[in-house]
Amino acid sequence: MSKAIELLQEKIKLAELGGGEARIASQHKKGKLTARERLHFLLDENSFQEIGMMVTHRSTEFGLEREKYLGDGVVVGYGTINGRLVYVFSQDFTVFGGSLSETHAEKICRIMDLAMQNGAPVIGLNDSGGARIQEGVVSLGGYADIFYRNTRASGVIPQLSAIMGPCAGGAVYSPAITDFIMMVENTSYMFVTGPNVVKTVTHEEVSSEELGGASAHSSKSGVTHFSCANEIECINNIKALLSYMPQNCEEEAPVIPYEKANEKRPKLNSIVPENANQPYDMRDVINEVIDTDSFLEVHKNFAENIVVGFARLGGKSIGIVANQPAFLAGVLDIKSSNKAARFVRFCDSFNIPLLVFEDVPGFLPGTDQEWNGIINNGAKLLYAFCEATVPRVTVITRKAYGGAYDVMNSKHIGADMNYAWPTAEIAVMGAKGAAEIIFKAEISKAKDPAAKLKEKENEYMEHFANPYRAAERGYIDEVIMPEDTREKLIIAFNMLKNKVDNMPRKKHGNIPL
Ligand code: HXC
Repeated sequence: MSKAIELLQEKIKLAELGGGEARIASQHKKGKLTARERLHFLLDENSFQEIGMMVTHRSTEFGLEREKYLGDGVVVGYGTINGRLVYVFSQDFTVFGGSLSETHAEKICRIMDLAMQNGAPVIGLNDSGGARIQEGVVSLGGYADIFYRNTRASGVIPQLSAIMGPCAGGAVYSPAITDFIMMVENTSYMFVTGPNVVKTVTHEEVSSEELGGASAHSSKSGVTHFSCANEIECINNIKALLSYMPQNCEEEAPVIPYEKANEKRPKLNSIVPENANQPYDMRDVINEVIDTDSFLEVHKNFAENIVVGFARLGGKSIGIVANQPAFLAGVLDIKSSNKAARFVRFCDSFNIPLLVFEDVPGFLPGTDQEWNGIINNGAKLLYAFCEATVPRVTVITRKAYGGAYDVMNSKHIGADMNYAWPTAEIAVMGAKGAAEIIFKAEISKAKDPAAKLKEKENEYMEHFANPYRAAERGYIDEVIMPEDTREKLIIAFNMLKNKVDNMPRKKHGNIPL
């Protein structure tokens, strides 16, 4: 073997060792995989092509010129997942704690540029102590270069972030701009300022996990869309998520072959309870309607009064937005509006048709909601549906009350087909509230006001607690038997598959942020 070849082999071996065996062992001890091991599990076998393996930092401050590692703390390149091209970067905590230097940032930017030029998703595996402290502002510049590219790429190619270690300070903003974040329980955290700063400023005592762990961000802040028990689950979630997406905004999501069968689902006839105030789990409806076991729920533990996620219907990828009567009666509030709006916008960006299941008693009243801005937050969901040009179908299973009726993908705001089950109640509000307002004088004058209220409530119910007034107007295209829902939806989405609809020419809209 020639010396030149030997040298190359030595260098590759060295690069593959990252920060060295001791640091790799320490990484494993924490229950974490190394940057390269993660890529091994993420990508199809032998598909990874590395770029910039020999890159080193250029810093000469604080003795750094004597400490260099090939690759400089990030492994980047491209490969395939289930045969489809993806660009990846995987931060190597064994090299300067995965901290971001000028060259580390340049490597990430390089694959982001390639991903944009070639129309394929970018997946970032984050495990980093943040800005390379010794490099100062150069590192901050590197972050900004990434943020800029994240934003330019938004809506052009899917961007997925997995947080598999620390992610603190301004570093959190790159994942935050990407489309989906997943975090690993107990070994990852995200925060703008850590527990020490929090203690100094607000005198709160809080651990990293409590402040910014997977549990906090999946249930309290909604920053992460998925909370994963371990790194392998996290990697598998990335693969599953990608399977519902196209490669870029010009393409359609992959379709799985589908053969028409008996599509009747009689179970659907008995899911909605007789009593309109009784809850039921909308996931039971979703799972009966979609292709078997195809639901990938997003933001499962956050704002549970709305359910969002990807599924397949007749083999095609769809995005589902559904009120959840089993949680807060499915009411719309600030968090659920934000959650659903972001999901709707993702689906619309990437040509994924939207299916809405509606059972909503309205917007949540109260000072907390009003003072925290339910008006402009609720408007986000309205805006997101209004601007969506993908095929959009709604099924009203029960309540469609008040402004929430309009917001939840009504025909008036551009839905293509709206169906209602016979159990649907499409009205300005619930019968009791309505009767109390419009028959106030009559009720107060009655000998038995309670009996009068009941009588008027029943009158209002008979009048409006059904889908037929809306169907008379054409707001509902068809009142369907619940058991026929799956078949109707497959046929409707098939009919809509070549839909062309464009927003008026503009620079960009001004969503009420
Ligand atoms: C350079 C760093 C580093 C950093 C860690 N290291 N963070 N080197 N720059 N930011 C190095 C350590 O010196 C150590 O080197 C190795 O990585 C592992 O770190 P440990 O501290 O031993 O590991 P651990 O105990 O697991 O703690 C991990 C950590 C801690 C919580 C991330 O290292 C830490 O607090 N780091 C500083 C975090 C920080 O303040 N970053 C700047 C944030 S501001 P050796 O040689 O011993 O292995 C920021 C702004 C971004 O990021 C703004 C963007 C706009």
